[in-house]
Amino acid sequence: MRRLNVIHWAMRELWQTSIRIPLPHPAVRIIDVGCGSGIWAKEVAEALPRSQVLGVDLSPTYLPEEPGRSHPNNLTFEVSQHPTILNQVDDINYGLQYPEGSFDMVTSRFIAGGITDWSATTREMYRILTATGTGWVQITELRPALVCDDNSIPETATAACWPNIFFAPGDIGNALGTARFDEIATMLKRRVEAAGFVDVHEYIDKAPVGNWHPGIPLYRHRLK
Ligand SMILES: C[S@@+](CC[C@H](N)C(=O)[O-])C[C@H]1O[C@@H](n2cnc3c(N)ncnc32)[C@H](O)[C@@H]1O
Repeated sequence: MRRLNVIHWAMRELWQTSIRIPLPHPAVRIIDVGCGSGIWAKEVAEALPRSQVLGVDLSPTYLPEEPGRSHPNNLTFEVSQHPTILNQVDDINYGLQYPEGSFDMVTSRFIAGGITDWSATTREMYRILTATGTGWVQITELRPALVCDDNSIPETATAACWPNIFFAPGDIGNALGTARFDEIATMLKRRVEAAGFVDVHEYIDKAPVGNWHPGIPLYRHRLK
């Protein structure tokens, strides 16, 4: 959970926001698919008190209520804890269990590894959004390659090579099921458009690894 929260803070520093889409009004119904620790959902629920935010996940990992601090009233989490229905209710691969038009915004972030069919998933996201034309989806996925703006990392450096071991077709990538991981981010825009979405924007951000550039605010203070 700590790792997920640290990545969340890093992403917030990178984007300087949690939501990049123009919300039609402040009283939106939002679903965070594969919400993990639930930290994104919680922060958004706090920032948009007139909204209704729902986090769903396969696993009951969402932020526990902390002593003296409870979840905001406009935030709920759903997770199947019943062994016989697990994989049927909150497993996105079985579809999203909500009627058409249930939400104004669908979001997901870094759930790539758990999705077997991205085309089907984006179609489901489209289906559960309101049909008024003001529903938005915000999907965030990563490209696992490590790159360097000034090409100062030699091609043979371990830092440049190791992602290929996992994220390119080959013994390890095939065995782990990570061989096509890179394709998920690069195909996302086309899949979202194929699902029926219009006005699609793709943002490509560089996430610093290691020591952050001095111009980028550090999140490290929050780790203390
Ligand atoms: C890397 S974590 C990201 C969590 C969160 N979205 C974030 O950005 O902090 C991936 C999450 O997606 C969930 N997940 C993966 N595949 C899923 C599926 N098929 N159905 C529901 N949840 C899934 C996992 O249980 C995990 O909590």
